[in-house]
Amino acid sequence: MPGTQGPFFFPMAHFVLFVFTASTIFHLQQRLVRIQPLPAAERLVPVEPEDNASSAPSAPSARSTQITPGALSTQIAPSTPSASSARSATSAPGATSAPSAPSAPIAPSAPSAPSAPSAPSAPSAPSAPSAPSAPSAPSAQSTQITPSVLSTPIAQSAPSTPSAPSALSTPSTPSVRSTAPRGMWTINAIGRLGNQMGEYATLYALARLNGRPAFIPAEMHSTLAPLFRISLPVLPAAARGLPWHNYPLHDWMEERYRHIPGEYVRLTGYPCSWTFYHHLRPDILREFTLHDHVREGAQAYLRGLRGRGRRPATYVGVHVRRGDYVHVMPEVWKGVVADRAYLQAALDRFRARHEAPVFVVTSNGMAWCRENIDASRGDVVFAGDGVEGSPAKDFALLTQCNHTVMTIGTFGIWAAYLAGGETVYLANYTLPDSPFLKVFRPEAAFLPEWFGIAADLSPLLKP
Ligand SMILES: *[C@@H]1O[C@H](CO)[C@@H](O)[C@H](O)[C@H]1NC(C)=O
Ligand SMILES: *[C@@H]1O[C@H](CO)[C@@H](O)[C@H](O)[C@H]1NC(C)=O
Ligand SMILES: *[C@@H]1O[C@H](CO)[C@@H](O)[C@H](O)[C@H]1NC(C)=O
Repeated sequence: MPGTQGPFFFPMAHFVLFVFTASTIFHLQQRLVRIQPLPAAERLVPVEPEDNASSAPSAPSARSTQITPGALSTQIAPSTPSASSARSATSAPGATSAPSAPSAPIAPSAPSAPSAPSAPSAPSAPSAPSAPSAPSAPSAQSTQITPSVLSTPIAQSAPSTPSAPSALSTPSTPSVRSTAPRGMWTINAIGRLGNQMGEYATLYALARLNGRPAFIPAEMHSTLAPLFRISLPVLPAAARGLPWHNYPLHDWMEERYRHIPGEYVRLTGYPCSWTFYHHLRPDILREFTLHDHVREGAQAYLRGLRGRGRRPATYVGVHVRRGDYVHVMPEVWKGVVADRAYLQAALDRFRARHEAPVFVVTSNGMAWCRENIDASRGDVVFAGDGVEGSPAKDFALLTQCNHTVMTIGTFGIWAAYLAGGETVYLANYTLPDSPFLKVFRPEAAFLPEWFGIAADLSPLLKP
């Protein structure tokens, strides 16, 4: 970790100003995303009766699940919009409760079998450290990062139902010591899709590390469940009254997060870093497996593309983040967004390394993309609909591609992580003294094997 990434040393006035601007941006972003008005404010509101927490939370809103290839514009070849995927999109994914068959073809290279590091030895294993007479402090218990502790069934709804009611009635008294992990952990649901994926994965990983059951806010469920087969249960309504304490996180893993004290912990922040969860990659890929109808919609679209008369062998998803970032980066963060030269270099890199790749461009600034991405070779398709309020289709398309070109933002980072192929990212897109580098560590955001192309910062240096 470079020396520029020290703790927050800068003077108080700057800090206050910084926090103010940062939170303003975040709130602005949130406001922008609320195209469909969602009830504002803190939402631990349940989507279902509390007593029914065992039945896996379903009822995903249908809004972001529509992946009709016919709605996509294409330049390579007008894909005949087969109605089949549109039809399948209407079948609501009530199957969220069955996290079974991880048929996940998301990352062709990665093993979808959730076996690697955390093969669940025995579901009852967590009793091992705590069973002996002296019921040592929970912290002592959580220090043991043995595989058996890691495999505590935080993901399934099983532990929630039995433990929750008793915990709710006696939050502070250390009642009978059960073998089930105690307490409830959650995380704030803020930001858009990419942010909330980072929050979900971080909660998943940290709760497991600390041997606590994880629950997601209802708002996070309604963001993620229409798209993915997530398995963490939703916080029950009565959890509102629990003695929660907030635990702020940096955007990267730290040693102390292995020993977070407390039974009712709400993690806060915008964590999005593989350093939290990469050791659980198979689990994370399983959690973020697309619902069948979503994946099929994206696959149908890709199948309809024709590059030079035949079906391409290599699809490269290109995500171009624009929108508010176009102003926020230079004005607040002393940074830039991806420019024409970056995209040219990134695409050329794939053209040089793969035979006849097809580039599937999604963006929230598609007009800019059409003007600035050279499509004259016939290998670029402007595919996304760019609707920020329902990013599911764009996201699904990116994850079904073989490789990724990203620009900035967590949306692209997650698309690349799930696609799992070669990834090109925009590197060093802020000035060295940018306040952005206080909250963002490039080496914790981009996997070491991803390929960075340095941004042209010269526009920032002009008077
Ligand atoms: C739980 O849900 C079922 C069906 O969804 C309903 O019949 C039952 O009354 C609910 N139970 C409680 C306690 O809310
Ligand atoms: C590339 O992606 C397409 C579309 O998802 C898929 O059918 C194909 O198998 C992938 N190729 C490789 C080599 O993974
Ligand atoms: C980004 O900057 C760092 C530090 O100066 C440097 O080590 C790295 O090579 C740069 N990355 C790229 C892709 O140029």
